[in-house]
Amino acid sequence: MKRAVTIWYLTALLATTAYAQGKKPVMTEQVKMNTFIAHLMAKMTVDEKIGQLNLVTGGEATTGAAVSTDVENKIKAGRVGGVFSLTTPAKVRKTQEMAVNYSRLHIPLIFGQDVIHGYKTSFPIPLALAASWDMELIKRTARVAATEASADGINWTFSPMVDIARDPRWGRIAEGSGEDAYLGSAIAKIMVQGYQGDDLKKNNTIMACVKHFALYGAAEAGRDYNTTDMSLNRMYNEYLPPYKAAVDAGAGSIMASFNDINGTPATANKWLLTDVLRKQWGFNGFVVSDYTGVSEMTAHGLGNLQHVSGLALKAGMNMDMVSEGFLTTLKKSLAEGKINITDINTACRLILEAKYKLGLFDDPYKYCSEERAKNEILTPDHLRLAREAATQTFVLLKNQNHTLPLKKAGTIAVIGPLGNTRSNMPGTWSVNADLAATPSLLEGLKTVAGDKANITYALGANLLSDATEQKNATMFGREIDRDSRPEQEVIGDAIRLAEKADVVVAALGEGSEMSGESSSRTSIDIPAVQQRLLAALLKTGKPVVLVLFTGRPLAIKWESDNVPAILNVWFGGTQAALAIADVLFGDVNPSGKLPVTFPQNVGQVPIYYSHKNTGRPLPDGHWFTKFRSNYLDVSNEPLYPFGFGLSYTTFTYSGIKLNSANLRPGGSITASVTVTNTGSVEGKETVQLYTRDMEGSITRPVKELKGFQKISLKPGEHKEVTFTITGNDLKFYDAHLKYVAEPGEFKIFVGPNSRNVKESHFTLLGR
Ligand code: BGC
Repeated sequence: MKRAVTIWYLTALLATTAYAQGKKPVMTEQVKMNTFIAHLMAKMTVDEKIGQLNLVTGGEATTGAAVSTDVENKIKAGRVGGVFSLTTPAKVRKTQEMAVNYSRLHIPLIFGQDVIHGYKTSFPIPLALAASWDMELIKRTARVAATEASADGINWTFSPMVDIARDPRWGRIAEGSGEDAYLGSAIAKIMVQGYQGDDLKKNNTIMACVKHFALYGAAEAGRDYNTTDMSLNRMYNEYLPPYKAAVDAGAGSIMASFNDINGTPATANKWLLTDVLRKQWGFNGFVVSDYTGVSEMTAHGLGNLQHVSGLALKAGMNMDMVSEGFLTTLKKSLAEGKINITDINTACRLILEAKYKLGLFDDPYKYCSEERAKNEILTPDHLRLAREAATQTFVLLKNQNHTLPLKKAGTIAVIGPLGNTRSNMPGTWSVNADLAATPSLLEGLKTVAGDKANITYALGANLLSDATEQKNATMFGREIDRDSRPEQEVIGDAIRLAEKADVVVAALGEGSEMSGESSSRTSIDIPAVQQRLLAALLKTGKPVVLVLFTGRPLAIKWESDNVPAILNVWFGGTQAALAIADVLFGDVNPSGKLPVTFPQNVGQVPIYYSHKNTGRPLPDGHWFTKFRSNYLDVSNEPLYPFGFGLSYTTFTYSGIKLNSANLRPGGSITASVTVTNTGSVEGKETVQLYTRDMEGSITRPVKELKGFQKISLKPGEHKEVTFTITGNDLKFYDAHLKYVAEPGEFKIFVGPNSRNVKESHFTLLGR
């Protein structure tokens, strides 16, 4: 922090001295910004500076009990720095005018929004997008999200969410990229690039806000907002990399998480917000709290609002979302000597810099174009991308006897509570999507099949048997109709429909609000009432395809054993239904691969591929051996491993060819495999590279993802896929948190998923 302040001071001084000497200084962007802000801050009162640190809601979508009040007067008095959850050029312009025309120094507001997986054009939920393993595609979705949001008044998004999550009980696993630091980091980086583009000053780019810093996904017992407690080693190696990747990619802001970390809430965690973020990573953007994150520290047990607000500011928190702890107490704390003016100045400067970087001082209304809002939202191109993106995210988990693809012929019975709902298609956090205009699965299938097939529908079962539980799980307009008749009657209708059909598409799983914020579950099964429906459908003897809707890994062992075909479709955005139809009918061959492990049952959680070996590993191929690290009642194997996903075609892998058995310091080696499409249709395959450090100064994971390439192969075609490995790829944080690659033997694995791999080995030589 001190270093950043010094640099700022020196550049400002340089510019002013040059002016004083009558020379025309070379005004770099940085110098220009520092000079501008120094002049502005010299005019600001303490109240106005504190005002910049206050973020209020515009009231369109709230995620907490508190809502902002008296917003207009506060803006006019210069007591607000930013507004979130307020959209459309007209409303944003009107609100911006309050700041620009009425506040004493005319400082524009920054306008934020949760643009999480698309804006009005909704893309698949982040966990689903991760399953595409297609970085270019994900970047394009972020670009479109930024284009649409900025056309509607927004210049700051609370995304990407890069929290590593290994506990599917935690509902917010849906909002991130899954369990792996390498894949998560790659996605964090391209999301930031997609939102921010190459120039934040353009009117179609928006500032990213990486969240939730940090370790939010490691909430104990998967219960949202719960405590996290973790070794530094695990943090640095497994949980922090995606945040760092986003920071390295130039993310303009970062949001602190709700949870405490080893006893200190992230919101006031100086080690995290200053030592790691600023000093170690060189972050130069601003930090915002999460929704009432500041005032919640009272409930955490850290003291009253004044005290916790001071703690947060001093720790490196710059903007207070909704609590108004900063607004109402910082001046008092300053007078009482509990904080100093430098703390306030630093935070204020960072907020003003963000506004400067966005070009808001040049034109506060640059995101308020009715014309753009009319022409750049929900365009045919955007919708096409949404459909394409969704098709790339579906994961084919099982396909016995080529049950899929379906023919566009005969009678197809769509059965289940997720079969004819529009509002449950886009997924959690699609706050801007027009739910009513999103086609349901039934509608999508009918559109794509045209008049070639007869498509029928029955509810078959309620989403959840308990009405109150269903109400809690279908909030924010995601209601699903209930049939109040006895369960057997509802199932009976469905069975009669199934018996008249050639094939059954069972649309089951979770409603879209059963994952996401405050949607943790202790059971990660398909709800029992739906399982009973599924069992009854299977008894008809008709081929059944399970179209699985979910925002988290589900424990579907029984389904996996008994249903011939399972297509996991997550929640796929505005065009999900059409995309599902594209894949079910074989117009698009599925290619998604799981970015997170699916357990056999919830008792295996947390389960992830990159685990340690332990001193007593279970011998390969065994289920239970006494005094080994295992369970009495279930094998250690996941149901579906990380990286897993089938295709309508098949691929074979050759052995691994290494160009050398030794990797020299500063050098590189290559590992190649030949992948062949041995089936009868064209398909895409994500070829995955893993390594294992066989002897380390600390224990190392049994596998770590180190590369992946998504290729497309025609029937019979083969391609050689080559990965280059350098010493950098083998680095990790050791016991002293030094980032090192240790000489010795490494195993290398290449394959279609983390379990089914070819293996070789090489030696990393010492100096
Ligand atoms: C969530 C954040 C979100 C914020 C603003 C909070 O409850 O944790 O992810 O960005 O609300 O809507």
